[in-house]
Amino acid sequence: MTELPTLYTECLILRPHSLWDADDLQKLIEDKDIASTTFNLPYPYTLEDAIEFIGQREEKYEETGSPEFAITHKDGYFIGGIGMRFNKEHENGKIGYWIGKPYWGKGFCTEAACAVVKYGFEVLGLNRIHAAHMTRNPASGRVMQKIGMKHEGHLRQDKKKWDKFEDMELYGMLRSEYFANP
Ligand SMILES: CC(C)(COP(=O)(O)OP(=O)(O)OC[C@H]1O[C@@H](n2cnc3c(N)ncnc32)[C@H](O)[C@@H]1OP(=O)(O)O)[C@@H](O)C(=O)NCCC(=O)NCCS
Repeated sequence: MTELPTLYTECLILRPHSLWDADDLQKLIEDKDIASTTFNLPYPYTLEDAIEFIGQREEKYEETGSPEFAITHKDGYFIGGIGMRFNKEHENGKIGYWIGKPYWGKGFCTEAACAVVKYGFEVLGLNRIHAAHMTRNPASGRVMQKIGMKHEGHLRQDKKKWDKFEDMELYGMLRSEYFANP
């Protein structure tokens, strides 16, 4: 397995997580508004959770081949995270992301997701990249639209979050579509 690369965009650097990020990561991700629209995050999110998460990254990447990046501003500060769950058999990847609330609405998630899509198609050679968001989280849907994904479906009460069933919106993009308009 090759080492996880660092991706550079206009404003951001996407790089492997480092234990130096633990404090910043915990402070940003512990927000209830982040936990509320994501799955598989502990809430409340403690510093120990952050240290454990970061400590497992290298091994998980070795095991699954799924890239997971810390999103940092090019000026050095930590902003959020983005990952792509890699499905080797079907040559596809599923993107998930979060941005710390002080940095919402500045285009950072769109910029990070564009870079990961480019990496997925151009470096990993994937055939399809997809993502899903809760229907009540239109900002995430907007990111998916802005990076060129197509709306593929609406799943009623597909997931359960904090004892409530959630409708989900599915988005995807094919390799042929990406290379028609990279
Ligand atoms: C979803 C999230 C990642 C977006 O990050 P971001 O850096 O603010 O995203 P961007 O600035 O790149 O784009 C956000 C877009 O959503 C739009 N938006 C924000 N709130 C919205 C709302 N309530 N309804 C519709 N669009 C909305 C913004 O206007 C912007 O679109 P525009 O550029 O056309 O104006 C961030 O809100 C977040 O981390 N939320 C909590 C975790 C989460 O939900 N992760 C995704 C799970 S699927």
